[in-house]
Amino acid sequence: MTILVTGAAGFIGSNFVLDWFEHSKEDVVSLDLLTYAGNLENLSSLNNNSHHHFLKGNIGDRELVSQLLQKYQVRAVLNFAAESHVDRSISGPGDFIETNIVGTYNLLDSVRAYWDGLDESSNKAFRFLHVSTDEVYGSLEKSNPAFTETNRYEPNSPYSASKAASDHLVRAWYHTYGLPVVTTNCSNNYGPYHFPEKLIPLCILNALNGKPLPIYGDGQQIRDWLYVKDHCSAIRTVLEKGQLGETYNVGGWNEKANIEVVKTLCSILDELKPKSDGSKYETQVTYVKDRPGHDRRYAIDATKLEKELAWKPNETFETGIRKTVEWYLNNQAWVDHVVSGEYKNWIEKQYS
Ligand code: NAD
Ligand code: TYD
Repeated sequence: MTILVTGAAGFIGSNFVLDWFEHSKEDVVSLDLLTYAGNLENLSSLNNNSHHHFLKGNIGDRELVSQLLQKYQVRAVLNFAAESHVDRSISGPGDFIETNIVGTYNLLDSVRAYWDGLDESSNKAFRFLHVSTDEVYGSLEKSNPAFTETNRYEPNSPYSASKAASDHLVRAWYHTYGLPVVTTNCSNNYGPYHFPEKLIPLCILNALNGKPLPIYGDGQQIRDWLYVKDHCSAIRTVLEKGQLGETYNVGGWNEKANIEVVKTLCSILDELKPKSDGSKYETQVTYVKDRPGHDRRYAIDATKLEKELAWKPNETFETGIRKTVEWYLNNQAWVDHVVSGEYKNWIEKQYS
């Protein structure tokens, strides 16, 4: 048996593939276009693993996807591939429409054709798991309850709108064609291999390099943080036990204001890597212009996943964030390779 993981060289996809091999001997085919966000170094520990097969390619390439599904007799597709950074979706939405919407459509149709041709028992056992985000639900006021699976879709950024569209396509392929799908909508992830354009790794690296820690607006925007390995365990759980056509919200009940997250990072760094001049990392905090259309608060109610599928996270924010800071301190070579080239251009464009 084999699973196909798209976007496998990205942050969550690579964590998922590594995590998969800690729990299973089943083969994995990793498909990734290796955009700026894809990094084969994330998967380098699998270089000698004969159960892992990596292919560079686009989820929208129907011929390639069809060939892969046939060749490896895939029993499940897990779709992580996406353009994922809100700020990039604001400055250039085109790639988001192309990959997240058109790419997902092409992938769904390639998978449907393959699934249609499977024998009865393989057809019945087949799964398409679509990895999505809580951002499709829009923004909450402080007093609102956390998002449940029945919340209306109210996406506000080009990124979240493109993910919402992909969720709708997945839903339609279930209702119209019977494709056996499940969808997960997760809150903000953090952990190893997180590309340093996102808040947490950006601030860890900027802190260590003596650069400003850019806080958009008043820093009081709230995100609900989940350690990436807990997201991976939720996806394994939903793949195994999720009900067809259902969606599952994934989160760890860890709502934090951005400024609180950054101050926590600073205090862990003060302890693990004190600055030579004796000053605190927090002095590097710099308030900058807010993100246009910045969502104020996201919060996930994960009751359905916890109650129906008996999933729960292993990490609290405190344990997960410490592990994350330690990972970045211990993986300087990974950081050095990631922050060259295209990354530099983005940072100059976004923060100059
Ligand atoms: P990421 O940007 O780190 O990785 C995305 C990967 O997809 C990259 O390796 C990239 O090369 C690949 N990719 C992009 N376009 C492709 C295409 N057309 N064909 C094949 N591969 C392509 O993103 P991430 O943070 O790992 O997110 C993975 C998924 O999880 C996304 O669908 C995202 O919407 C979702 N998600 C992310 C978060 C989060 O906090 N990061 C939270 C909830 C859901
Ligand atoms: P980010 O990591 O980009 O994730 P998302 O936008 O998908 O939630 O941002 C997390 C929060 O941090 C978000 O409210 C925007 C804010 N932020 C900053 O304040 N400064 C930054 O430099 C970045 C990248 C994000």
